[in-house]
Amino acid sequence: MAIADSAQRAPAEIAAAVIDPVAYAEWDGLLDKFDVLRRDMPVARIENGELHDPFWLVTGYDDVMRISKDNKTFLNSPRGVVFGFREGEEIVKAVTGGSPHLVNSLVALDAPIHPKYRRLTQEWFMPKNLKQLEGEISALAKTTVDRLVEAGPEADFVPLVASPYPLHVIMQILGVPEADEQRMLFLTQQMFGGQDEDLNKTGMANMTAEQITQLVIGAVADFETYFAKITEEKRANPTDDVASVIANAKVDGEYLSDRDMAGYYIIVASAGHDTTSASTAGAMMALAQDPEQFARLKADRDLLPGIVEEAIRWTSPVQHFMRTAAEDVEVGGVHIKEGDWLMINYVAANHDDRVFDNPRKFDAARSPNRHLAFGAGAHQCLGLHMARMEMKILFNELLDRIETVELAGEPQRAKSSFVGGLKTLPLRYTLS
Ligand code: HEM
Repeated sequence: MAIADSAQRAPAEIAAAVIDPVAYAEWDGLLDKFDVLRRDMPVARIENGELHDPFWLVTGYDDVMRISKDNKTFLNSPRGVVFGFREGEEIVKAVTGGSPHLVNSLVALDAPIHPKYRRLTQEWFMPKNLKQLEGEISALAKTTVDRLVEAGPEADFVPLVASPYPLHVIMQILGVPEADEQRMLFLTQQMFGGQDEDLNKTGMANMTAEQITQLVIGAVADFETYFAKITEEKRANPTDDVASVIANAKVDGEYLSDRDMAGYYIIVASAGHDTTSASTAGAMMALAQDPEQFARLKADRDLLPGIVEEAIRWTSPVQHFMRTAAEDVEVGGVHIKEGDWLMINYVAANHDDRVFDNPRKFDAARSPNRHLAFGAGAHQCLGLHMARMEMKILFNELLDRIETVELAGEPQRAKSSFVGGLKTLPLRYTLS
């Protein structure tokens, strides 16, 4: 890591906040800090002692875009996310024989392997193919909104709608029967962790790094065993779901190994769930706070794509990813050395007021809205068309069935520095 002069080192309070799950739960104060950094220190060195290796935090839209698109200079491997336990990393390396990844998922790979793996499902995730799922997804949206309607006139939108709906969709495309969904949910939670005690169904928040790592290793093995069965079925009787594509895919003439297939299933299962859920809940909160905008959307469904895009920008559920510099390079006037670690912060980039007018306002009519919440470049979200489609279908159904909506209590955000969003959203509503 290059020695940073003090002009490049973020003040201790800010350095602590940018990796602190609580700061992400509190949100507004964190956005203030990003504004300060973007103005004074757009590429800032973050040091928090022994917690994690130092890294460069990038907060400006243009810099985040440039890094995302330059996949030769800024690599996803070896470490994609700051979770901050060095001890855990060492245990994983011992298990894998040196790799910091338990599974080879797309986000952990670089060229030349990454494009080969990504190509396997790229077509499947294109709008033309997804169109055939519209009927199934609409049916899921309808039964989900039925539950909200029945629970009224007051209910928590997150456990009733925002969380289960994307989970059902993902499990459907992975060919997981509904009876196994809770098991899959539990396994993904074990893998991606409990920074928030209310969501900490796995008990992880109270464990040591070693215990957590062992739990994650066990979850990966369970996942592998579970999907080995699905793979067998999908090879014998392929259907049109993505699990069949993965099960029958070949790289360099060979089927993927069980571990690589598990990596693929795991990334799809995990990447498509909490993210879409967070954007959905965020949009509903914004609308509950702005009855005029809600009424306008009810009357004019041409605004639907705009609300979905703004929801995704405004919530930026994937809050960061990390990159490692493959060579010496300059970013924002700062000299980055080969091997240095960088955080591209999507929340900060999507609140850059040089690109977005009044960025903290939720504005369904915002145009253009070239947000970075799906990333950019070779790793740009594979499921972005699916997320948009899912959300459009759901909001169409909600706007048909709900006449008015307001907050029935204070919404709460989850404590999470990686994927984050609302964990509760109490609503009061009337029906159309
Ligand atoms: C990657 C965001 C929904 C599957 C990513 C990345 C981001 C992201 C920021 C990394 C991009 C980069 O490094 O440049 C989101 C958001 C979503 C969402 C905000 C919802 C609002 C989904 C859904 C799926 C999905 C529904 C699948 C069903 C993936 C996969 C990757 C990915 C497989 C890895 C791609 C790669 O590394 O090549 N997503 N995502 N995502 N996402 Fe999404």
